[in-house]
Amino acid sequence: MSNKESFGSKFGIIAAAAGSAIGLGNIYRFPCEAGANGGGAFFIVYLAIVLLMGLPLMVSEFIIGRRSGKNPVGAFKTLAPDRKSWSGIGYMGVVCAFLILAFYCTVAGWTIDAVGKSIINYYHGLDNATIQRDFNSLMNESWQPILSEGIFIFLTAFIIIKGVTKGIEKYSKILMPILLGILIILGVKSLTLPGAADGVEFFLKPDFSKITGKVLINALGQAFFSLSLGMGCLITYGSYIAKKDNLTSTAFAVCISDTLIAVLAGIVIFPAAFSFGIRPEAGNELAFVTLPILFNQMTGGYFFCLFFFLLLTIAALTSSISVLEVPVLFLTEELKISRKKATIYSAIGAFVLCVIASESLHDDTPLKIFGLRIFDAFDELTSTFLMTIGGLLTVLFLGWKMKKADFMDEYTNGGTVSMGLRKIMYFIIKFLAPIAITVILITQFIK
Ligand code: TRP
Repeated sequence: MSNKESFGSKFGIIAAAAGSAIGLGNIYRFPCEAGANGGGAFFIVYLAIVLLMGLPLMVSEFIIGRRSGKNPVGAFKTLAPDRKSWSGIGYMGVVCAFLILAFYCTVAGWTIDAVGKSIINYYHGLDNATIQRDFNSLMNESWQPILSEGIFIFLTAFIIIKGVTKGIEKYSKILMPILLGILIILGVKSLTLPGAADGVEFFLKPDFSKITGKVLINALGQAFFSLSLGMGCLITYGSYIAKKDNLTSTAFAVCISDTLIAVLAGIVIFPAAFSFGIRPEAGNELAFVTLPILFNQMTGGYFFCLFFFLLLTIAALTSSISVLEVPVLFLTEELKISRKKATIYSAIGAFVLCVIASESLHDDTPLKIFGLRIFDAFDELTSTFLMTIGGLLTVLFLGWKMKKADFMDEYTNGGTVSMGLRKIMYFIIKFLAPIAITVILITQFIK
């Protein structure tokens, strides 16, 4: 892969992978899932899964990507030339990318809508019920969401066409620390609201009796979603990692920062939601109604609101480009289509699906499969099934198909870094992760 560009620096790859990981998954989806799955019980399971399965899977994807230097389909073809069927994991990832984008760009559209409303100081002086009603009527509108989704997909495609290292590194490096700073300030504000303690207790105090199969699968799905795992996204990024970079410390840094942002989002959202009387199961409203209300009550709320939604849009962009990069790299490398065309075709495909997903949120929508609105169905299908199965097959590939010596060689950068963890890591990848994911999936299928 010598003729392929790599990330400019160690920090560049961490910033890019963290940019992929940190996004709407942390600030919008994590609170939704925690709220719907019992708060503290979900939280503790989530942390365990990130450490025991998320981190090893991330290392696995980096290994496959860097070793092959290819897109997810080409990667498995290169590493297992005798068994082309492994590349099915890559094809699944390409399909997954479109479904994720459809869901993701819908939510990103609401974020852009919130940016627009912040600019004109729209929320100022509105009472809580009006903010809530307003968000619900946005769901029922046709053109406004489509416009903001279109803008978002256009921006994503624009960055992708400009190329990976230049595009991604530049945007991620400075902005994510600022987002972190704003979240900390919001957390302090939220914790001092009347009734905040109930929210903290809900979010952080584990009630072990609430850990059910549903909590496990949802925590697994959320961990994969938030860390961008199980669909080849980080295989793609791995193919850009330089041979000298340390994969474990990179993955560790990404997992820590991603989890930190998710936890902070919980600390901002739950105390405030409880204080404002928004139920933890409220779903979409948790972020998109609670936060504007919170900003309304803050000194300097106008600026916080504007910067927060702006940064969230950017965080969403650094994630969506990593998803779109999967089909684009596939099309350019496997089907030899130019990068520009590959991006345009993929973006149009994603946009069409996104319009269907967002229109399915109308109150009287006929756009349902198995009783689920298409929007929820795409989300459920990807995080609950495709990504978990993708992750399972990926660790199986490394543990059982790839030679151990090759694994170790790539993992230790050709033996140049001594990796105390390598035996534990190999054990988790070969045995623990596949068994745990299988058990969780089976309990779900049986239901
Ligand atoms: N992890 C991102 C987030 O939390 C979303 C994302 C980017 C993603 N790449 C992905 C989700 C790949 C699943 C798979 O917002």
